[in-house]
Amino acid sequence: MTHILALESSINGEASVSSGLARQLVDRLVESSPKAEVTRRNLVENELPHMGTDFMHGIFAEPEARTDSQRQLVALTERLISEIEDADTLVIAAPMYNFAIPSTLKAWFDHIALAGKTFRYTAEGPVGFLKGKKVYLVVSRGGDYSDPDMAAIDFQLPYLKHMLGFLGMTDVSVVTADGQDMSAERAKSGRAAAEAQIDALFANVVLAAE
Ligand SMILES: Cc1cc2nc3c(=O)[nH]c(=O)nc-3n(C[C@H](O)[C@H](O)[C@H](O)COP(=O)(O)O)c2cc1C
Repeated sequence: MTHILALESSINGEASVSSGLARQLVDRLVESSPKAEVTRRNLVENELPHMGTDFMHGIFAEPEARTDSQRQLVALTERLISEIEDADTLVIAAPMYNFAIPSTLKAWFDHIALAGKTFRYTAEGPVGFLKGKKVYLVVSRGGDYSDPDMAAIDFQLPYLKHMLGFLGMTDVSVVTADGQDMSAERAKSGRAAAEAQIDALFANVVLAAE
């Protein structure tokens, strides 16, 4: 059975473009796989703690030596890692904030990127353990990063793809809504382009199944 983990990270609530598009995409996944289970995690409504000394010491301490607060932090990290291990499909919605990803989403990566658990370093380089998963990245941006000059200052999408690949997730499809803060017309065409990208992803799924 398909198990979808859907993450949202916009501070715009119901008006969020990235979350709205990601929900459309999840609906399409569920349409094509009606028994799919969906685990939703809103990283703004349920903000994760940033890494601190308790997290650092807790992770490396023997379980019986952990303080209560360290025990809670380690349990949270383990729960987040289980959520991703249990999922075969991830849908990650991310607005661009300050040319990168929201700090809430960065905090999620900080929790799940755990040496020995989700990746390890080897003599040949890092090896990610989270293999065999399909990832859909849904990103929205105020500007338009489609031309090379703008793409050079896009630290959102390259970072997301790199982190996912580092952890073993290389089957990544991207839906991009550019130009959301440029003009009403550009925002509309950026959103329509993203919806067309979602349609194309599912047209391919149907074709592949035929
Ligand atoms: C705090 C903040 C920082 C932002 N930084 C950028 C930025 O660096 N570049 C950009 O193109 N848009 C930036 N934006 C605009 C958002 O990326 C854009 O409005 C996007 O559509 C928001 O997605 P959402 O509707 O899912 O929240 C920023 C918006 C906010 C609220």
